[in-house]
Amino acid sequence: MCGIVGYAGSKQAAPILLDGLSRLEYRGYDSAGLCVFSEGELKLAKSKGRLAVLRTKTENGATLPGYLGIGHTRWATHGAPSDENAHPQLSTNGSICIVHNGIIENFLPLKEFLLKQGKTFRSETDTEVIANLLEYYYEQENDLMKAVRLTLGRIEGSYALGILCADRPDSMIAVKKDSPLIFGFGEGENFIASDVPAILPYTRSVVYLNDGDMVVFTKNAAQFYDANGTPVRKAPEHIEWEMSAAQKGGYPHFMLKEIYDQPKALRDTINPRIRDGRVVLDDVKLDEGYLRGLRRIYMVACGSASYVGNHAKYILERTTRIQVEPVLASEFRYSEPVLGDDTLVIIISQSGETADTLAALREANARGARTLAIVNVVGSAISKAAHDVIYTCAGPEIAVATTKAYSTQLAVIYLLAMYIGEKLGTLAPECYAAMLEGLQRLPDQVAQILVPENLAKIEEAAEAFSRNHDVFFIGRNLDSATCLEGSLKLKEIAYVHSEAYPAGELKHGPISLIEEETLVVALATVEKLFDKTMANVREVKARGAHVLGVTTEDFAGEITKYVDRSLIVPKTHPLLQPSLTVIPLQAFAYYIALARGCDVDMPRNLAKSVTVE
Ligand code: F6R
Repeated sequence: MCGIVGYAGSKQAAPILLDGLSRLEYRGYDSAGLCVFSEGELKLAKSKGRLAVLRTKTENGATLPGYLGIGHTRWATHGAPSDENAHPQLSTNGSICIVHNGIIENFLPLKEFLLKQGKTFRSETDTEVIANLLEYYYEQENDLMKAVRLTLGRIEGSYALGILCADRPDSMIAVKKDSPLIFGFGEGENFIASDVPAILPYTRSVVYLNDGDMVVFTKNAAQFYDANGTPVRKAPEHIEWEMSAAQKGGYPHFMLKEIYDQPKALRDTINPRIRDGRVVLDDVKLDEGYLRGLRRIYMVACGSASYVGNHAKYILERTTRIQVEPVLASEFRYSEPVLGDDTLVIIISQSGETADTLAALREANARGARTLAIVNVVGSAISKAAHDVIYTCAGPEIAVATTKAYSTQLAVIYLLAMYIGEKLGTLAPECYAAMLEGLQRLPDQVAQILVPENLAKIEEAAEAFSRNHDVFFIGRNLDSATCLEGSLKLKEIAYVHSEAYPAGELKHGPISLIEEETLVVALATVEKLFDKTMANVREVKARGAHVLGVTTEDFAGEITKYVDRSLIVPKTHPLLQPSLTVIPLQAFAYYIALARGCDVDMPRNLAKSVTVE
């Protein structure tokens, strides 16, 4: 949710900043801007719209010559997308210029205070308050670092900030709290960015800044300070990713590429954690004594990650016999949850920075629960705040709609189910062996779904149903959890109104919405419930619905008796089946979005990392 980048070096800053922003656009894409020290002066260019508009406006950066600067790509929180509200934001007299990712909760009283001090405002953003507060304290103290500290002491909320001062044409200050920020060491050049891909072509040597950290840097030097203002040394980490992981690699969209990345992402997540026929989770410290005392597991997350929690209820309860409660992070944190040392809170997040999820994690920590995070982004705030972390190894996920991160989160749930089930003796050895075998075959089975003939069939179905206004996803048991994800994919990237219901619930209300040609996507992969789901299919067909069925190869023939079209997935262990069922649903949403002319990778109103409540 907003991306920031900063550069100090000997090359032209603006093209490097634009290049970095192009890999941060997934964080927000309603406006963008740059500020570069050009012949000793702060020179700005900002524009509403995608980064391409800013590129044209600045002739790919040529109109802003200079060697030090900051850039921003925005997802609007305070104030509509416009040139004025785009960042960077300047202070009243132009002495301070900043880019900001985050949200300032007390900006209104601060704005009133600053207006009384004679400061003026050009935008509706909360960020301009920070620029003016900095200017105010800089005028009072004549010491920029002190002004930064005093400003941070007065603002409430989250921020990652890149700060330029007109009096300091060679240096930049960056600070962070609850929004991500990394520092990159180059040769005669240094960088800041919201995320690694922005600076990966220039350096692999990075520091993940902690909350409260500050860095003051020039092209040749960087001084870090901790939250107390004490100078500290930071050892850089080496980033191993290949640059190709953050590129489209010949695919028309990141989403399609990431759908195809899934077999590898699953292998990378599963294989290192299976040794000598056992699931080994070196990352976690849940010993048998602790597990035996557990009464409840909460699964806490937002969006797609929360649906992984819905699956976990079925999977973990069956394998561990411990009660599992999936709760949305935005609800959990205000619900006064009953927590203690007999409760494990499992937090799931791709980005590791979702504001509600992070707040829920802190709430759980504060209430004495043990917390375990399943996270994709290494070094993220959630990974740092949880007691234990299991990383999904999906690699960078750029498309706003998650695919491969979701799949790897599910894989971690299977690993945890087996790990805990084995320790507690609640998972029979033959079931353990069958799950293990299924888990090892899963990446190849996903690849099997992604062969051209299958994709062509999914695309054909999407073409046929692309004009439907209302879609219902129905299914029972684990399928009902997968329905949630299939439905969300369609909403977010194809802008189709869709609902997910456990099939048995339909006749308790929603069936009144079924009319001629409503599309119903019926998932029927749970063997013992196939007939029951088909009974629900008959009910909606009787009311004129079109039905797309999804089932396993065992029922490929049978399902054609009930539905208009069907998509068939390979069969696996019943608890692992959702990992295969979701693949055609991802591709279905993708092709519907294409058929409807939607921007698949950057859907309207969304951003990938939701760092505001
Ligand atoms: C949907 C999607 C979102 C995220 C949600 C949580 O495709 O990507 O629903 O799952 O915003 O984000 P993370 O996992 O980063 O906490």
